[in-house]
This record gives sequence, C-alpha cells and structure tokens, in this order.
Amino acid sequence: MIDDSELARNTEKKAAGRAAADMVEDGMVLGLGTGSTVDFFLRALAERIRDGLDVRGVPSSERTAMRCRDLGIELTDFKATDTFDLTIDGADEIDSAFQMIKGRGGALLREKIVAASAQKVVIIVDSTKLVDRLGSVAVPVEVVRFGHERVVRRLETQGVKCALRMAGDIPYTTENGHYYLDCDFGLIANPPAIQARLMATAGVVETGLFVGMCNVLIIGRGEETVVKRRGN
Ligand code: A5P
Repeated sequence: MIDDSELARNTEKKAAGRAAADMVEDGMVLGLGTGSTVDFFLRALAERIRDGLDVRGVPSSERTAMRCRDLGIELTDFKATDTFDLTIDGADEIDSAFQMIKGRGGALLREKIVAASAQKVVIIVDSTKLVDRLGSVAVPVEVVRFGHERVVRRLETQGVKCALRMAGDIPYTTENGHYYLDCDFGLIANPPAIQARLMATAGVVETGLFVGMCNVLIIGRGEETVVKRRGN
C-alpha cells in the first residue's frame, strides 16, 4: 500500500525522469544508473524511442538491463564503447556542492564506472534527497569478501558504525561478487577525506561517496522540475 508521501515522491521522480529523457539526443550512447527514479527515466526514454529516437545504453545493473529489455531500449557494453555521451542516475542524498551518497540499491560500483565513463552525468532526484550535509543515511562500501571482518574492525576502531548488509539470513552479495558494509559516519564534514580514507583501506573496492561526478541535477518538485548545473 502506497502512502501519500510515497505518491508525492513518485510524482517528483517521474517529473525528474521525464526531464532527463528530454535531454537525450539522437545517436547518443547512455550510461544507465539503477533505482526507482531511473525506472521512471527509462519509461520516458522508451516513449521517445517509440517515437523514433535512436540510442543505446550501458546498464549499471541486471535490474536496469531487465527493465531495458522489457521496454525495448537497446543495450550495449564496454566492448563496443567506453565513452558515453550522458549517464543518468539517481542518488540517495545530494548536497549543494553536488556531492552524493549512492548505493542503497546495491549497484554503486557499476554506477561509479558508468558515471566515470560519461562526458556528462545527470542526476535525477525527488526533493527529499537534497541535504545540507551528507550522512543522514549510511555510506555503502563495497568490500571483497575475503577479510571483510578486518575492514569492519578497522573502521570501528575509527569510531565508524558498520553493518554488513544482509539478504535474509545471508550477506547481500553484489553483482560483482562482493559484500556491502553500510557505514554510519554521522554527518560528514569532508566527503573527499572520508572517500580517501576508505579507499586507503585494503579490501575496500569502492564507496558510495560520489564527489565531483554530477554535472547536472534535476530535482522533481511536485509535477515540475528544477534544473541545476555544476558551477552555476
Ligand atoms: C543504486 O545503487 C543507488 O545508487 C540508487 O541510484 C539510489 O539508491 C537512488 O535510488 P532511488 O531512485 O530508488 O531512490
């Protein structure tokens, strides 16, 4: 059962997804993120494809790949190309400097790769994702399974609360065969410093802190959107 606040958020996600689909141009290669907001984007993109738009996309997850197959969006991969015109993705939190926490949906590593491969990254969010400071949600950290307990202990001695993400009774395993630690840093004063600290820990593959990667932010506000560009 969907409550009113969820309905309102879906209206905003849909508006942001449609605005992003309107930015896509004929012939583009797209990086395709993951999540419920991206699902709205994919539906709007599929409508444009039915009207004749010719594009291909590299999906950041099986979930997105499956949605694309269902919607008739042509897929491609890194064998064919490694520079995308545009990557479109959602976020769990984003601040005014366009720093983000991503990865609650479990796809952060591939999302970071498709974002890093794009000339322009467009982030689509409902208005609840905007924050003054990152950290109200935990930062997902993708770790190799071997020795992940050591990573937990090291972070905990630094005062970080870590939870191994579970899928029922067993640890959640990413599409890359890794585990996820959801790490609570509290409110984060300096995201690049936390990113550097995490990446310096042996066993950490990638983190859900995305810094300096978003070029355009589309925020759903009711049925309308607000578009912000980095540097403006
Ligand atoms: C997936 O791993 C995440 O990074 C998503 O992009 C993020 O969680 C946003 O998801 P929603 O659009 O479903 O809120």
